[in-house]
Amino acid sequence: MKPIELNLTVNGRDETVTIPPNRTLLEMLREDLQLTGAKEGCGHGECGACMVVLNGRTVNSCLVLAAETAGANVVTIEGLKHGDTLHAVQQAFVEKSGMQCGFCTSGQVLAAKAMLDEIPEPTPQQIRDGMAGSFCRCTGYTKIFEAVETAATLLKARRKARA
Ligand code: FES
Ligand code: FES
Repeated sequence: MKPIELNLTVNGRDETVTIPPNRTLLEMLREDLQLTGAKEGCGHGECGACMVVLNGRTVNSCLVLAAETAGANVVTIEGLKHGDTLHAVQQAFVEKSGMQCGFCTSGQVLAAKAMLDEIPEPTPQQIRDGMAGSFCRCTGYTKIFEAVETAATLLKARRKARA
């Protein structure tokens, strides 16, 4: 298969990659751009470990062909913090120990951020529903849900401080 050249923006940087046309977005991020935060769990769009933000919406990057992302804006877990300051969701996962092995964590954090962007003050059920596409084999989910609740509180405080 003839390689294709692709231009896109990843975490605010313009990138050009030359890749086989059948490469997934996940493979391109990990293998061509060395952004290894997104993980391959199931490889079939079921677990959320490979989640990234594509043009403002979360996607399972194992299901997206890199070739479809020409000109797109992609944000990965590596692009979430501002300078040395963790995003509130990242900080909350650290504070609440919302991870064990960490394999699912980048997907969990991005899923939580996307949900909190839409529902800034979610109920416990809305948190469970919003995180339903992100599987974890280690934590039993309680710590993850607590981290999302804490993230909502931190984000509220940060909004207040900016107002
Ligand atoms: Fe993509 Fe599981 S690896 S959803
Ligand atoms: Fe290990 Fe979630 S922390 S899979």
